[in-house]
Amino acid sequence: MGRLSDRVALITGGARGQGEAEVRLFHSEGAKVVIADVLEAPGKALEQELGERALFVRLDVSSEEAWHEAVAVTLDRFGKLDILVNNAGILKLNSLLEMPLDDYMAVVNVNQVGCFLGLKIGGRAIIDSGGGSIVNTSSIGGLWGIPGGAAYSASKFAVTGMTKTAAIEFGASGVRVNSIHPGIIDTDMVRNLGMDDSAADDAAAALLVGRMGTPKDIAFLALFLASDESGFCTGSSFTADGGVMAGEIFKTDGE
Ligand SMILES: NC(=O)c1ccc[n+]([C@@H]2O[C@H](COP(=O)([O-])OP(=O)(O)OC[C@H]3O[C@@H](n4cnc5c(N)ncnc54)[C@H](O)[C@@H]3O)[C@@H](O)[C@H]2O)c1
Repeated sequence: MGRLSDRVALITGGARGQGEAEVRLFHSEGAKVVIADVLEAPGKALEQELGERALFVRLDVSSEEAWHEAVAVTLDRFGKLDILVNNAGILKLNSLLEMPLDDYMAVVNVNQVGCFLGLKIGGRAIIDSGGGSIVNTSSIGGLWGIPGGAAYSASKFAVTGMTKTAAIEFGASGVRVNSIHPGIIDTDMVRNLGMDDSAADDAAAALLVGRMGTPKDIAFLALFLASDESGFCTGSSFTADGGVMAGEIFKTDGE
């Protein structure tokens, strides 16, 4: 018996990175998993690899119409929806003085509007299925400011706030809603910013745990929140960041 046996989970941005790790882990714990992403080739390859308890759907999370289609396809194939992980996200860094409005809106449309539509349309399906759990991927950038992160931080603070509102509004319907706040996780998102192995080593050395986060680190947290083990948790923010949010780290060399 897996920790998610007989559950149906839809994971946005499930084709790679943290979303892919969540798809694999949830599937290994018995869930039927919908891989929802704009990346068709890796999404379909993952569907094929996992077999009949997996389904790829093309979903651009910023499109309300696409959300309705994705949820309809999910209900048609698996009959219900119990778990939603709003994981899809993009990152564009620029100073406040330089950031083009188009870049700002692109980040908000995927990270913030995408989460809103997931809560609205996926939330309705979970309520109609009798309740469940929603995990929203925010960031440590949804708890404090990050340089160049006006758009990203704004979108992730929105996710943090929306999570608490959704928990209040959905609580009576048996739906728990929590946010997760990854620190630096080694995925394409940060590698595409130009972080090479040497910069990754420096970043790892600055963390209390001495290493960067992996997609699996976050998938284990999402699994806990998706499962009944977290049944007393809702409306909360869960950080997995190697200690960044513990406070300023002064290196004393033990003296
Ligand atoms: N990597 C980090 O250091 C880090 C830290 C904190 C939070 N996060 C958040 O974690 C989440 C996952 O990021 P990741 O690190 O796995 O990055 P990633 O870039 O590897 O994965 C992001 C996924 O989202 C998908 N996606 C992007 N736009 C989409 C859209 N419009 N519709 C549907 N899918 C879309 C991408 O195709 C990709 O599969 C994001 O929300 C990100 O903001 C990442």
